[in-house]
Amino acid sequence: MPDLRQACATGRNTEETMPADALVLFGAMGDLAYKKIFPALYHMVRHSHLDVPVIGIARAARTDEHLKERVRDSIQQQGGDIDQEALAKLLNLLRYVGGDYEKPGTFALLKKALGSASRPAHYLAIPPSLFMSVVESLAKSNCMKNARVIIEKPFGHDLASAQQLNAALHAVLPESRIFRIDHYLGKEAVLNLLFFRFANSFLEPIWNRNYIESVQITMAEKFGIEGRGKFYDDTGAIRDVVENHMLQVVAFLAMEAPTGLHCEAIRDEQVKVFRAIPPLDPKNLVRGQFKGYKTEKGVPSDSKVETFAALRLEIQSWRWSGVPFLIRAGKCLPITTTEVLVKLRKPPLDNLAGESTNQFRFRLGPGEISISLSARVKHPGEELVSKPTQLSAVEDDTTDQVDAYERLLGDAMRGDAMLFVREDAVEAAWAIVDPILGNTTPLEEYEPGSWGPHEAVRLADDVGGWHDPEGRKKDTVAAPAAA
Ligand SMILES: NC(=O)c1ccc[n+]([C@@H]2O[C@H](COP(=O)([O-])OP(=O)(O)OC[C@H]3O[C@@H](n4cnc5c(N)ncnc54)[C@H](OP(=O)(O)O)[C@@H]3O)[C@@H](O)[C@H]2O)c1
Repeated sequence: MPDLRQACATGRNTEETMPADALVLFGAMGDLAYKKIFPALYHMVRHSHLDVPVIGIARAARTDEHLKERVRDSIQQQGGDIDQEALAKLLNLLRYVGGDYEKPGTFALLKKALGSASRPAHYLAIPPSLFMSVVESLAKSNCMKNARVIIEKPFGHDLASAQQLNAALHAVLPESRIFRIDHYLGKEAVLNLLFFRFANSFLEPIWNRNYIESVQITMAEKFGIEGRGKFYDDTGAIRDVVENHMLQVVAFLAMEAPTGLHCEAIRDEQVKVFRAIPPLDPKNLVRGQFKGYKTEKGVPSDSKVETFAALRLEIQSWRWSGVPFLIRAGKCLPITTTEVLVKLRKPPLDNLAGESTNQFRFRLGPGEISISLSARVKHPGEELVSKPTQLSAVEDDTTDQVDAYERLLGDAMRGDAMLFVREDAVEAAWAIVDPILGNTTPLEEYEPGSWGPHEAVRLADDVGGWHDPEGRKKDTVAAPAAA
């Protein structure tokens, strides 16, 4: 079975494909490092994918021991059996460098800690406001030679700031050494959208405006902002998940088949989708804020930031013209799930099909990952009527799945940028949402535990309303046994 990655390696020059020989983690004492990056490093060691020094940087004067303690704690928090040998190996790779990111002395210490490493990967797991100054300091201190930079989202705050950040990065690094993370691109279930579409031939004839009536993507979170009030209030739902995760899912659902197996094939198709989406009109947006948000720690009492966004976009392409794509994302909704619903057009005659239509449902997690198709079959008995049924492929056991951060970090260390957001794509995505950023539309209050403001209903009125992810079990009818 060909692996896309092996094919990608073909024809690339040596410097780009040489693995990084050190990982530098800025923000080593931060939340993301603790929750996601340390567990990813531990699994990389378990799978023999990491064997280079890992230098953690943070502001406070601490020691290697402090960092090791934090890593140990993070791995224990994951639960389950710990592979002690792998953990010991990881701890052995760790070094700590402390110092203010504004001070050149910090970068001199880093240069010293890098020792003979000549191709470091610098991972910026720090607030975006620090990206530019850290990159500039890395260049000034000679830590950028042959280096890669891995940058967390959000990449910019709007189109202008994303362009500015791209320009600052390109002043010191070529695009081939910049790895912009959107962890949705590393998720097994999201990658499966590509495989389901392009590793099967039955879908292609119907995957277009002739057969598909509408597409909906819901990213619902039952929880609120979990004490991250300051971060969230600077961001909001559109910047936090729509501009990046949701648009990446749109791209995978809507793109043309990647031509050829070169590294840019997928990224070329992603950007074509973004360019075919006109900038959003505020009239196709509904913003909401859950009741009680303004009293959260770190949130101003007059905050106008949305914790819910519903929007409708179009893709002006031969394949998708006239097919609405609806996106809904929010906090404090009834459940936590990310789902895609692709609704097919009704058959021409009602007498056999009844009211319902065929729908593909992709459940992208968390937890259950599944693909299902609602279809109609004959209701058993004398009557000549149909009934709904559901054909499902469910991946119940997700324990063997590679976590998105493990996959992406491994890719970046190897220099494989296929699943990272390219400069043109990040700017094209911002161009789509730029007109709806800020207070362009009224902010509707909604009850925690509801599906957001009622106003959002109008966006989906002509496609049969928003689908109900909670209802997915209710309409599941076992597929009839084969005759
Ligand atoms: N947390 C998540 O779940 C998550 C998810 C996706 C993306 N991200 C992105 O990942 C990055 C890191 O997120 P995070 O949640 O880990 O952030 P964080 O905990 O707020 O900050 C990470 C570290 O940055 C340092 N820092 C914060 N403010 C600073 C300042 N003004 N000057 C210098 N250093 C400062 C702190 O280092 P010291 O410990 O040295 O003080 C802190 O530990 C951000 O870009 C975020 O948007 C986070």
